[in-house]
Amino acid sequence: MDAHVLSRIETIQGNITTQEVDAIVNAANSSLLGGGGVDGAIHRAGGPAILAECRTLGGCTTGDAKITGGGNLPARYVIHAVGPIYRNGRHGEPELLASCYRRSLEIAAERGLKTIAFPAISCGVYGYPIPDAARIAVTAVAQFLEKRLEIERVRFVLFGAETYNAFSMALHELECGRQGKR
Ligand code: AR6
Repeated sequence: MDAHVLSRIETIQGNITTQEVDAIVNAANSSLLGGGGVDGAIHRAGGPAILAECRTLGGCTTGDAKITGGGNLPARYVIHAVGPIYRNGRHGEPELLASCYRRSLEIAAERGLKTIAFPAISCGVYGYPIPDAARIAVTAVAQFLEKRLEIERVRFVLFGAETYNAFSMALHELECGRQGKR
C-alpha cells in the first residue's frame, strides 16, 4: 500500500465523542434509535437533536450507513453505520464489516467532508474478534483512500488498549505490505 494512502490514516486511544473532525462514525444498530456502547455515548454527548433526526431515517440495513447532524458534538456530522453481529465468520460478516467502512466514506465524500473518525465497529456488543475486525477495517479504509483523494484524514479512535493495539498492528502490517495482497 502506498505511503500517500497510509499517511492519511491514524490510530489513537480515546473517546470518539470529543473528536474535532467533520464527521464521527457511530456503531449503530439497524433501528438507528440508540443503544449502549459508543452509540449511547454519542447520543448522550450530542443531545436529542441526533435521535430526532434518526427517527426520520427509517432505519438502516447491516453493512450500510446514514448521516445526521452532529447536535452538540464538536463534529459537524454523525454517520451511523450498522456493523454485523458476529456469529462464526461464515455469514458474510467480513464483507458486511468492510461495507460499513466503505459506505461511511462514500457518504462523507458525497458531502464534501474531509476528516472522519471511526470507532471499532462491531468490536463491542456485536462480538467481532478484534484482530480480524482491525485488519478488515484498515484494509477497507486504505482501499477507499487509494481511489478517492478527497478524504484527507481517517482517524480510528479506539477506546481500550486491546483495540488500540490491534488496529495499530493492522495498520503497521499494511505499511509493511503484509496485507492487501491477499
Ligand atoms: N469512543 C470510542 N469507542 C468507544 C466508545 C467511545 N466513547 N464507547 C465504546 N467504544 P459497541 P458494536 C468502543 O458495543 O459492537 C450498541 O448498543 C467499544 O469499546 O459500542 O458495533 C448499538 O446500538 C468497542 O471497542 O458497538 C448496537 O446495538 C467499540 O466502541 C450495538 O451496540 C464498539 O462497541 C453495536 O455493537
